[in-house]
Amino acid sequence: MTSTSEQRERLAVVGPGAIGATFAAVAQRAGMGAVPLYGRTAVGGITVHPDDGDPVVLAGEVRTAPEHARGPLDWLLLAVKVHQTPDAGHWLRSLCGPETVVVVLQNGVEHRDRVAPYVGSATVLPAVVWCPAEGLDRRTVRLRGVPELTVPDEPAGHRLAELLVPGGAQIHVRPDFHTELWRKMTMNALAALMVLSGRRSGVFRRADVRTLGLALARECMAVAEAEGARLDPAFAEQMVDRLATMPPDMGSSILFDRAADRTLEWDARNGVLCRLGARHGVPTPISDVLVPLLAAASDDPN
Ligand SMILES: NC(=O)c1ccc[n+]([C@@H]2O[C@H](COP(=O)([O-])OP(=O)(O)OC[C@H]3O[C@@H](n4cnc5c(N)ncnc54)[C@H](OP(=O)(O)O)[C@@H]3O)[C@@H](O)[C@H]2O)c1
Repeated sequence: MTSTSEQRERLAVVGPGAIGATFAAVAQRAGMGAVPLYGRTAVGGITVHPDDGDPVVLAGEVRTAPEHARGPLDWLLLAVKVHQTPDAGHWLRSLCGPETVVVVLQNGVEHRDRVAPYVGSATVLPAVVWCPAEGLDRRTVRLRGVPELTVPDEPAGHRLAELLVPGGAQIHVRPDFHTELWRKMTMNALAALMVLSGRRSGVFRRADVRTLGLALARECMAVAEAEGARLDPAFAEQMVDRLATMPPDMGSSILFDRAADRTLEWDARNGVLCRLGARHGVPTPISDVLVPLLAAASDDPN
């Protein structure tokens, strides 16, 4: 396998939405040329507009026909929504070989189990995605912040950093990646309060929503600890404060999906708390109320 951007890794993105386009732009800026994009809607000229930088027009067009898959790749960046993974499985099957590293740019905590059925003996590298990005339409992505990932302290994690840092990404390689997953998971879980109130992060400035958010974050921490994550006792407060002090118009990908009447990632972001809580005997009374409402909103928005 090649290991530096000078050698032009063979890399492609499956799921060229807000996050997929963001990291295709990073790879393009790192000198990897026209990054192939595999999706379900054929568009060209996708442009990523960072708030603090110049726009990047992706040179690759979205390929939608299975016969246009050209594998095996060195690197596959998977950025479909969690519930879209089974439908994207055919891309994974045709683009992966034993030498491929599949970087899973998704929320939730179950990255490896989720993609394992589709990738054979390829290496799976879970990633925590920290940068907020919003697809304004299928060709326009607004990126708020530096493209930022946390990955496990494994050889593939270090190679990914070598590959993408030259394109302007921040890649944190962490030995206790499991805890990092749960830090992001807590933020994911809290975003349910934006979905159910129909508000962006400014909603956390309300005292009553802050109180509810704190209780939900503590519930998430209890499940996280049962799963072996090691979070600081002050973490719940820090996370709710972080949301309350963001620009009040900051959204979340699940809120954008709700606003567009699309299926929601409710199971990976909230349902998982009930599932894992039940497994460990950790009560999840708040999630037990929120999850059916999220699922109902996802099922039939009308
Ligand atoms: N956006 C954020 O700020 C953010 C931040 C952190 C983490 N995340 C996580 O990152 C992941 C991706 O989120 P996102 O916001 O980038 O989602 P998104 O904008 O909805 O992008 C998903 C992309 O996948 C495509 N797709 C759907 N089904 C497909 C299939 N069967 N085969 C190939 N492509 C398919 C979609 O195509 P269509 O256009 O045809 O629907 C779209 O281009 C999620 O797990 C999310 O929770 C997002």
